[in-house]
Amino acid sequence: MDYAQQDMAPCASSSRPFDGRVAIVTGAASGIGRATVELLRHRGAKIVAVSLGEDVMSLAAPDVVPLVADVAQEASAAVAVDVALSHFGRLDILVNNAGIIINKTVSDMSLDDWNRVMAVNATGAFLFSREAMRPMTTAGTGAIVNVGSYACFQAFPTIAAYAASKGALAQLTRALALEAIPHGIRVNAVGSGDAVTNITNHIHQDGPRFLAEHGQKAPIGRAAQPAEIAEVIAFLASDQASYIVGSVLMADGGMSITVS
Ligand SMILES: NC(=O)c1ccc[n+]([C@@H]2O[C@H](COP(=O)([O-])OP(=O)(O)OC[C@H]3O[C@@H](n4cnc5c(N)ncnc54)[C@H](O)[C@@H]3O)[C@@H](O)[C@H]2O)c1
Repeated sequence: MDYAQQDMAPCASSSRPFDGRVAIVTGAASGIGRATVELLRHRGAKIVAVSLGEDVMSLAAPDVVPLVADVAQEASAAVAVDVALSHFGRLDILVNNAGIIINKTVSDMSLDDWNRVMAVNATGAFLFSREAMRPMTTAGTGAIVNVGSYACFQAFPTIAAYAASKGALAQLTRALALEAIPHGIRVNAVGSGDAVTNITNHIHQDGPRFLAEHGQKAPIGRAAQPAEIAEVIAFLASDQASYIVGSVLMADGGMSITVS
């Protein structure tokens, strides 16, 4: 038996590797989610773009169906999967990207704050993954990409809820990867560093500027642009990542490898 040739994914590269494929992207209206919608679409995917605010409606196009929904609500995932199947006939990719941060010390944090961060960042990914797995399991193929953070592994004061939620997301990634891979579904995560987005706009007058400055602490000396993280998401969702299962792939400019 030629073991070198077993089960090898096709290595053909194409500028539209997602032609014929359908993705759900959560948190699609802004930042990393929006960049991911643009990139996957550019590479051929049809997309259900899920986000909390009406601003997601601006993404409407023949190949993008926007959906206003809260990922933390149990019904949202079933609606999103139904939209994918009814509009586009299949579901190949789920990107669990929706996320929020509330910067407070544990002493100052209310139970509502804690529960909301966990509900959006961790429970939302569980709910959407559970629902997306149904058609993916029937098809015997699929890719789920969770958007994590260096906070999957590291912490600093005031991010207890966020770090706990991203730690939970990393462990969800690993445990679900083991359950999903026998069905041909790969589950992975990207560990994003500071990216210039709107996620801290409720805390800072100029949130993107704050993140750009905070990112200068990374060994690379700058924050990421959302498109740089979208590239990693697209890679993990693609056949090029055919042997990557249960990884949290760090794209953080070296933030997670330094002790300084
Ligand atoms: N920006 C960073 O520095 C950074 C670093 C590490 C990880 N991340 C992660 O990247 C992901 C995307 O964040 P971003 O920085 O692009 O933020 P962003 O605020 O620019 O975009 C987040 C999007 O998610 C949507 N959203 C929020 N709560 C939602 C909910 N309950 N249901 C549906 N949609 C919801 C928002 O409306 C928004 O469109 C998050 O999971 C975040 O934790 C960001």
